[in-house]
Amino acid sequence: MTKRGLFILFEGADRVGKSTQVQSLTNHISNSRNLPTKSLRFPDRTTPIGQILNQYLQNSTNMDDRALHLLFSSNRWEAKDSILELLNSGTNIVVDRYSYSGVAYTAAKGIDVDWCYSCESGLPEPDIVFYLSMSTEDATKRGDYGGERYEKRPSWKVINANRTVEEVSNEINQIFDFEFESLQKKPIGTLK
Ligand code: TMP
Ligand code: MG
Repeated sequence: MTKRGLFILFEGADRVGKSTQVQSLTNHISNSRNLPTKSLRFPDRTTPIGQILNQYLQNSTNMDDRALHLLFSSNRWEAKDSILELLNSGTNIVVDRYSYSGVAYTAAKGIDVDWCYSCESGLPEPDIVFYLSMSTEDATKRGDYGGERYEKRPSWKVINANRTVEEVSNEINQIFDFEFESLQKKPIGTLK
């Protein structure tokens, strides 16, 4: 029987090196284990909802904060079935931003964090989250980022991103290799 794929997530501030590390880990998994691996990113600007988000992000068109939040969240919900299909068919996914970005960016505008998170409840849950941090100060503020309650189930790894690309990816590969088999045995989780 095919084993399920893993859902690996990268979170962190803009320009911290997420896209580079997503690509690097995707290559590492494909090459070292010869397993199908796909990278995804949110927002996914290719869908109709994603195009609205893209317009907002590029032109800073005005939008109500909650309406914007719901669009970012919908952009994940519309990917839910394909994410589950990929995982169930044995494809690993390496994802650039997800629900924790959604909660952090909207809550930073002063909107209730529980309201923000409630939109995410029921989505597939990542198996492991690599939080790329540029400073140790950021790392200690991690609770403000995703919120402690969101860190309970998936395994959060705070990675010091203030190093060379290779140093960062070596650490990520090591953690991934160490956790891979035990994570694969767990059923796919759901955000609570
Ligand atoms: P990107 O640069 O990773 O494509 O993300 C675009 C911006 O959208 C970035 O500033 C983070 C923000 N964002 C949200 O505000 N909510 C979300 O749910 C996501 C996924 C991203
Ligand atoms: Mg960006």
